Amino acid sequence: MRVGVLTGGGDSPATNAAIRAIVKRGAEDGYEILGIKNGWAGLVENNMAEITSADVAGILPKGGTMLGTSRTNPFKLDVIDSVRKTVAANRLDAIIAIGGDDTLGVLHKLNNLDDDPIVGVGIPQTIDNDIPGTDYAIGFDSAVAIAADACDKLHTTAASHHRVMILEVMGRDAGHIAVEGGLAGGADIILIPDQAFELAWVCDRIKLRKSEGKTFSIIVVAEGAKPVGHDQIIKTEKVDQFGHALLGGVGEYLALEVEKCTEIETRVTILGHLQRGGMPTAYDRIQATRFGVAAIEFVDQKKWDCMVALKGNKVTAVSLKEALDGVKPVEKELYKTASLFY
Ligand code: F6P
Repeated sequence: MRVGVLTGGGDSPATNAAIRAIVKRGAEDGYEILGIKNGWAGLVENNMAEITSADVAGILPKGGTMLGTSRTNPFKLDVIDSVRKTVAANRLDAIIAIGGDDTLGVLHKLNNLDDDPIVGVGIPQTIDNDIPGTDYAIGFDSAVAIAADACDKLHTTAASHHRVMILEVMGRDAGHIAVEGGLAGGADIILIPDQAFELAWVCDRIKLRKSEGKTFSIIVVAEGAKPVGHDQIIKTEKVDQFGHALLGGVGEYLALEVEKCTEIETRVTILGHLQRGGMPTAYDRIQATRFGVAAIEFVDQKKWDCMVALKGNKVTAVSLKEALDGVKPVEKELYKTASLFY
């Protein structure tokens, strides 16, 4: 078997752990693994090279992706013929695509081409953890740890200066990083895309804290959160190559409004790409390794058009169709629990 592996979309910690697992587990069955460079762009441009166990030595704790990534979408560019040629020229039997909904969406379409489908298996990887059908996507735990650490650091300045400190975190249309990072970091208010927020409610909660003698507040806001009656706030009119708006700015918006209505000095920190960098947590490495091993096993079983998933603590397969069904919402119970503490 010759299997091509690629990583697409936003990078995240522990992706290398999955690549390492694919290569090492594949080697046990005599698979040849080809590392496709820069996401789907590598299949369009025929850019790949064999990767062996020696190539993946030492990459387990490293952030980023050793294969490079991009948001190239061959269907948008209308270059499926080039993809076919590359697959044939390299005698690829299957593809393992590691990424979020966009990367997995391309894989699903290739699996379902009318004549001569290009088959493969997906692995969920995005700090946003927004893919339906799986409890976990590679990168999430590391991003949550970074968000929680940021809250801890902001607490000291908030307490010293008696300020409102706002932390804007990533997540696109999902609030998972905000809820879990905010819960672990002791945020007083957590705002997520799943529920538009009332500015008056935010201000009242801060004033209530003050009346109870709490001289500072920490707000964690997901970049996709929006005030009631408003659209999501976007950084620029530009969209990325998959056609997504670049979100960001809700933290600044909140800071202005909160300072106005509470008359408490307010500052904003945008955590940005720090959430995608650095060493993966132990949990992330473990799940990424399990996902990589399972992906090879699903290829062995010719379980095409599926995605490796975590359900409870069990690694299983779900159809890519199920995995691509919208944005996984935050569990209501979890959000309620995270919102209890103020
Ligand atoms: O999907 C991962 C993610 O980090 C989102 O949380 C964020 O909105 C987006 O990617 C940022 O994309 P870029 O790296 O293109 O700025």
